[in-house]
Amino acid sequence: MRTIAVVNQKGGCGKTITSINLSAFLAREQRRVLLVDMDPQGHATLGLLAEAGPPARTMYDLFLQRAAGQPAALRDVIRTVRDNLDVAPADILLSAIPDTLAGLVGRENILSDAIAGVRGSYDYVVVDCPPNVGLLTFNALKACSEAIVPMDPSFFSLHGIGKLLETFDVLAKETNHHIAARVLVTLYSGRSAFVKAVVDEIRRHLAGRHFDTVIRYSVKLAEAASHGVPIASYCTRCAGFEDYQALTAELLQQEAAFPRDGQPSAPALTSEGVMFSLQAFDAERVHLAGDFNDWSLDGSEMEPIGGVWKKVVKLPPGRYRYRYVIDGRWQRDPLNADIEPSAYGGDDSILVVDESVASEHSPASVYTESASD
Ligand SMILES: Nc1ncnc2c1ncn2[C@@H]1O[C@H](COP(=O)(O)OP(=O)(O)OP(=O)(O)O)[C@@H](O)[C@H]1O
Ligand SMILES: [Mg+2]
Repeated sequence: MRTIAVVNQKGGCGKTITSINLSAFLAREQRRVLLVDMDPQGHATLGLLAEAGPPARTMYDLFLQRAAGQPAALRDVIRTVRDNLDVAPADILLSAIPDTLAGLVGRENILSDAIAGVRGSYDYVVVDCPPNVGLLTFNALKACSEAIVPMDPSFFSLHGIGKLLETFDVLAKETNHHIAARVLVTLYSGRSAFVKAVVDEIRRHLAGRHFDTVIRYSVKLAEAASHGVPIASYCTRCAGFEDYQALTAELLQQEAAFPRDGQPSAPALTSEGVMFSLQAFDAERVHLAGDFNDWSLDGSEMEPIGGVWKKVVKLPPGRYRYRYVIDGRWQRDPLNADIEPSAYGGDDSILVVDESVASEHSPASVYTESASD
């Protein structure tokens, strides 16, 4: 399952239009998609559920439940929009959550925990963020391993983007949570030399951290959203349709680089051994260290394909501890919920290779202890 936050603290740069249309195109490509609306403005909800009337339960209820110490289930909130496309709606009440949850330990992990509960039901979770970096955006970032940063080509946008990328770095340093972020140029008019210069500047500055697709200004996108439908249900011969289709294709193309079911995953058994995989677009070197190789970095380098790093290791049945070492930083496997504190600080990931399972060589048959899908 890929988890993608659509995030930029700047307002009106196309986050919601991107969330709606990317989700809808992915669903058309037979991917199972959940769009989570984390913006109290509820624009993604309106843009997809306008006809359906106000939702009975929203993300507000989910957060509130958790604040009351009860388990919060995303399933209770989710509404089906059409085949392969569900939405977890939001409305203005969500704006009360940061104050209501002030001081609650673990409040930034609520969305991440909730999404873990639907892992297996979706191929993609897309999270539409509000235009600020507060508790709601932090929840989205902690829940996602990728980010799309829509950016309208203006001077102020260039200024803000540096700040946002810094936020990702802080998150990585303080919580060991890494996000592969890429900028998406939106609202592109292409007519003025200034706009062209800004786009050139973005590409120079963000080598490898931007999409090749550029979203042109297309009034049909705004019209479709105001009718509560994605662009494909409104017009198929317009720049908005072509551009979001191209963006989706660009995103799907990366799936080819993902080891299993198109995704990096917790360790999986292959006929060659146990396949470890990790997504880290910006890393220069990644090693796999564990008790099975005496935690040594010698010969434990992983191979990058796209932004996904892989290594296959032959392991006899047993229980193992391991970590990924990304450019010198030791971290647990973000896709494996089974962890144990290490004597040296932080957490190790735990992997159990089962005796019966090890002999079967079926791709999905190495179990982490609490695997839910
Ligand atoms: N490519 C586009 N062409 C024309 N209009 C667009 C395009 N993308 C977005 N818009 C319009 O621009 C406005 C802002 O877009 P959108 O709501 O997606 O931005 P946002 O970043 O989600 O805003 P906010 O920060 O308020 O949540 C909306 O009216 C939307 O319909
Ligand atoms: Mg929005």
